[in-house]
Amino acid sequence: MDAVAPIPQSAGQATLGEAIAESRRLLDQAGIESAEQEALWIVQHVLRLPAHHVVTDRDRLLASTELADVKGLVQRRVRREPLQYIFGMQEFCGLEFHVNPAVLIPRPETELLVEYVAQRISAEQSTTIVDVCTGSGCIAVAIARQRPRARLIATDLSSRSLDVARQNAIRHSVGERIIWLEGNLLGALAGQKLEGQVDVIVSNPPYIAEADWATLQPEVRLFEPRGALIAGPQGTELHERLLQEACRYLSPGGALILEIGAGQARAIRQIVEQISGYRFHRLVYDEAGLERVVIVERVGT
Ligand SMILES: C[S@@+](CC[C@H](N)C(=O)[O-])C[C@H]1O[C@@H](n2cnc3c(N)ncnc32)[C@H](O)[C@@H]1O
Repeated sequence: MDAVAPIPQSAGQATLGEAIAESRRLLDQAGIESAEQEALWIVQHVLRLPAHHVVTDRDRLLASTELADVKGLVQRRVRREPLQYIFGMQEFCGLEFHVNPAVLIPRPETELLVEYVAQRISAEQSTTIVDVCTGSGCIAVAIARQRPRARLIATDLSSRSLDVARQNAIRHSVGERIIWLEGNLLGALAGQKLEGQVDVIVSNPPYIAEADWATLQPEVRLFEPRGALIAGPQGTELHERLLQEACRYLSPGGALILEIGAGQARAIRQIVEQISGYRFHRLVYDEAGLERVVIVERVGT
């Protein structure tokens, strides 16, 4: 690490280079792994600078308000708030999604769900797709963008999540194409006359076991919504309920596509075997080689 001149407090002034260096020092001290990169991102974000300017404009003197804003964001990050909540944004499937602590931050491995929905549904097909546990709406919105003829219904237990999801759909010009329903898993579909009509049900439900809560990173444990993460004592409770509830809504040959946690595939396969009406189609591994997606199909004609 370079020797760093502290930001001169009395003058209340600092150059861009000094602000980056001091931010990096504070982040580093707080145990943030990529302190250098995050310091650059924070300064870039506050000053709304193109990336190369944080390298070329190091002698630029920051206004006192800019310096105060940088310090404020660094302090939030030092307390382990995820950068995505600080910036209010996360990219998913090439689209920017607004996020706040009401919703889980979309994870890259969840893009696999969108990929496997898109594999089953052609761009020309008029289909009905339900995204259960929609959170920020990332899955429903990404599918709506990729499959312009599909009708989408997205559900969540949390009305605050649905508010964020609606904003994201409008932001990506698919607000008119998605129906948002508040409710407990597929209970939200009651009265919609969708029995036997749904071609794909996709879901990234909470799947962490209660006992694992304490082992999560502070960014997750202290800031992300517990209700978006914890399923119950086993971790597979919501998968089991979804498997039980989905059968009546799926059309024959329709698919239930579920994100799972590492090590859960076996338990979920056993649940599938105990419920009549499904055939196990596929287990998909993510880039890290971990079990990530289970696909089951509704049997029958
Ligand atoms: C793991 S997050 C997934 C969010 C988003 N689909 C994603 O992949 O980023 C789970 C979501 O399920 C919602 N949820 C939790 N329990 C639920 C339930 N019983 N019924 C409906 N939604 C539920 C939470 O509010 C949260 O938004």
